[in-house]
Amino acid sequence: MLFAPQLHAQSKIKVGLMLPASGTFAQLGTDIENGFRLFVKEQGGKLAGKELEFVKLDDESDPAKGADNANKLITRDKVDIMVGTVHSGVALAMTKIAKENETLLIVPNAGANEITRELCDKYTFRSSFSNWQPHYGAGVLAANAGVKKIVTITWKYAAGDQAIQGFKDGFATKAGGQVIEDLTLPFPNVEFQPLLTKIADLKPDAVYTFFSGAAASKFIKDYNDAGLKAKIPLYSAFLTDGTLEGLGTAAEGLVSAMHYADGLENAKDKAFRANFKKEYNKDPDVFAVQGYDAAQIMLAGLKGAKNNDIKDKDGFVKGVETATIDSPRGEFTMSKAHNPVQTIYARKVVGKENKLTGIAVKNLADPATGCSLK
Ligand code: BEZ
Repeated sequence: MLFAPQLHAQSKIKVGLMLPASGTFAQLGTDIENGFRLFVKEQGGKLAGKELEFVKLDDESDPAKGADNANKLITRDKVDIMVGTVHSGVALAMTKIAKENETLLIVPNAGANEITRELCDKYTFRSSFSNWQPHYGAGVLAANAGVKKIVTITWKYAAGDQAIQGFKDGFATKAGGQVIEDLTLPFPNVEFQPLLTKIADLKPDAVYTFFSGAAASKFIKDYNDAGLKAKIPLYSAFLTDGTLEGLGTAAEGLVSAMHYADGLENAKDKAFRANFKKEYNKDPDVFAVQGYDAAQIMLAGLKGAKNNDIKDKDGFVKGVETATIDSPRGEFTMSKAHNPVQTIYARKVVGKENKLTGIAVKNLADPATGCSLK
């Protein structure tokens, strides 16, 4: 019996981190990963006593490669859980593969509504938002401000289309408003000039936009340089998140809606911001919060699993479903479809901050249309 096989307790948990490391969303990927790692560090470098091993993959925000990349993590790398990604189109491909393979998945940004609607799955969770949620809140803000004629501008892809629909749903809850034109350009193009000329000709009361990452910085700058900021108020969600460094006053005063804000002042947020700054010498943004909360969700799952073993997937699910996540954004619980039920804040850019000015919608749940999880 010299060579009798040894029964090992489960060794490291393999976490497949599928995030963009290149392209317009690269910084978002870094912020999410930094947030995730910060929470693990705060737990002493382990989650529920388990060591983690990360397998990283740059998804390039390319939907055409989404399925192959997710398959590599599951089949080649044999990860126990996937965390990803940012781009809605890539996340949709990833979600389908996770579902087919019954692999645990935590989505730390991508808002594709389908992920927690018709494609919902018992092993899939989101730490971020559905595209409908923040944009619905922004629609409510614009309507409350008495805006009547709106032009929208975004990228033509899943998140852009759903952003504008969410905005319209919120805007339409109050009478009298009208979207007079929807302008789009392909993802990830940044040739905004012809569309800005069109906006100047249309003379709306306000513009609503969804862009994010490096492209959002360029849009803010171009809108200001075109002389539009002084004349036509610009409403958004995401535009001013992680983009305010290096913009001077181009973004000053811009109003937005989001599930995070600077100046929330809850105890968790204060500690999170201090620890993040210490670790990365930078203030955190909403993407770092979503990464941090993805790790919190994973801990809640492990605590629900027998012996904290990630192989007990049904225990993991129960752990997450019954948890209250103490997020820097404020506490939240998961909806039945595994999407955060969360408050959408009103904010205004002051210097380099998205300062809290109020609440757009309290405890907003996505409608979860077509999801039959109970
Ligand atoms: C998305 O594709 O879902 C997305 C990307 C960046 C920011 C917000 C949403």
